[in-house]
Amino acid sequence: SRTNVKKLLTSTELVGQDVLVKGWVRTKRGNKFVSFIAVNDGSTINNIQVVADAEKFPEESLKEVTTGACIAVTGKLVESQGKGQTVEIQAEKVEVLGTADVETYPLQKKGHSLEFLREIAHLRPRTNTFGAVLRMRHAMTFAVHKFFNDRGFFNVHTPIITGSDAEGAGQMFRVTTLDPINPPKTETGEVDYSQDFFGKNTNLTVSGQLEGEVAAMALGQIYTFGPTFRAENSNTSRHLAEFWMIEPEVAFNELTDNMDLAEEFLQYLVTYALENCADDLQFLNDMYDKELLNRLHFVVNNKFERVTYTDAVEILKNAKKAKFEYPVEWGTDLQSEHERYLVEKHFNKPVILINYPKDIKAFYMKLNDDGKTVRAMDVLFPGIGEIIGGSEREESYEKLMTRVKEMGIHEEQVWWYLELRKFGTAPHSGFGLGFERLMLFVTGMGNIRDVIPFPRFPKSAEF
Ligand code: 4AD
Ligand code: MG
Repeated sequence: SRTNVKKLLTSTELVGQDVLVKGWVRTKRGNKFVSFIAVNDGSTINNIQVVADAEKFPEESLKEVTTGACIAVTGKLVESQGKGQTVEIQAEKVEVLGTADVETYPLQKKGHSLEFLREIAHLRPRTNTFGAVLRMRHAMTFAVHKFFNDRGFFNVHTPIITGSDAEGAGQMFRVTTLDPINPPKTETGEVDYSQDFFGKNTNLTVSGQLEGEVAAMALGQIYTFGPTFRAENSNTSRHLAEFWMIEPEVAFNELTDNMDLAEEFLQYLVTYALENCADDLQFLNDMYDKELLNRLHFVVNNKFERVTYTDAVEILKNAKKAKFEYPVEWGTDLQSEHERYLVEKHFNKPVILINYPKDIKAFYMKLNDDGKTVRAMDVLFPGIGEIIGGSEREESYEKLMTRVKEMGIHEEQVWWYLELRKFGTAPHSGFGLGFERLMLFVTGMGNIRDVIPFPRFPKSAEF
């Protein structure tokens, strides 16, 4: 039966045995005596070298063994004489399962730009870079579930289609069954929404938080991990229209507990990557970003700086040498240039910013005693900016109602959320980690479109 490449490369007891490997040809080179075929099956970034002697395999017999072809090789696993690998397979039999035409297969030997690879999302997983990214995405997914499971959190599935706009930012994708060109009309000529599937405005969720709070008010500590959708600002290297978010929500946690959880969580995830993705990390470090491993170790070994929004604004106003594109005044939202200044220039470590002005944050955040700021918390990371956004939630029915009215939120969309404050309300807090922002950090990749298999951004839906 088949042995995967990772196992072949790491199991010394297999040396001297007959093995079968199946995978895709990365390169073939050689001379008139011998051919060397590098085979990768996705189990690891490393290839297994297949050695085919010309006596047994004349050139003609290997003509379909080209870059991109899928092959099955039987032979003896032996210690390698050559440099660059410890073992190799002395081929007995080479079978071509699927050919790849040399003239048209786009991934020939030479390196390709990430921009070019984005146009062939169906083939880019076969490159070293995307193999590494996808294996690490899996490792981080697993680590998220392990972290919470080990601490007694329950995973909750929240709806994708919803009638509410959790963040109140109006960045929703509408979900409707009405024909957009010829919608049914009422007698007075208006669009007849009563004929829509749900009979009311529905959209793709921007966050699972509100439903997560429902669960936290029953199960105590929960987390969601699902796709979220935003029709916003998606033409940057940090934004996607479809991204994955992890949102823990914890009854009885106050803002400080929330910060502690966020810091422990991020350090756990980075540690997990260092311990479990060493080969892929080394490749990404050497290929794209020589500081990657240093940066990951630094985050694991240093406490995050905790600063109020008000103090941060003072720091930014006094940053005479920094030439910001956007001015900073108390009350304005911080731009990513400001966030990055704080993290990369001023503090030189991850920063947790708290107590933002209420007017630039969502309706559900708990009001501070000053009446002006809310118990918000953003975690800012080097090279990324905001990686986590969260808060303590307003648990007082009266105060939350006041915010709902002030902000013009439709009560009929959030009545059930308000009822959580009527029946057994409790202090609680939570946050959202953007999974692709985390992936940017742990892989060192520069563009968020390169850390998700099928990125959704404006005009991108070909795949
Ligand atoms: O700060 P945000 O909007 O917060 C929420 O959605 C809250 N409901 C979270 C909570 O308290 N449960 O988003 C949270 C995180 C951001 O910090 C960022 O990492 C990521 O989600 N994010 C995006 N990632 C990729 N593309 C986008 N368009 C993103 N928008 C937010
Ligand atoms: Mg935010």
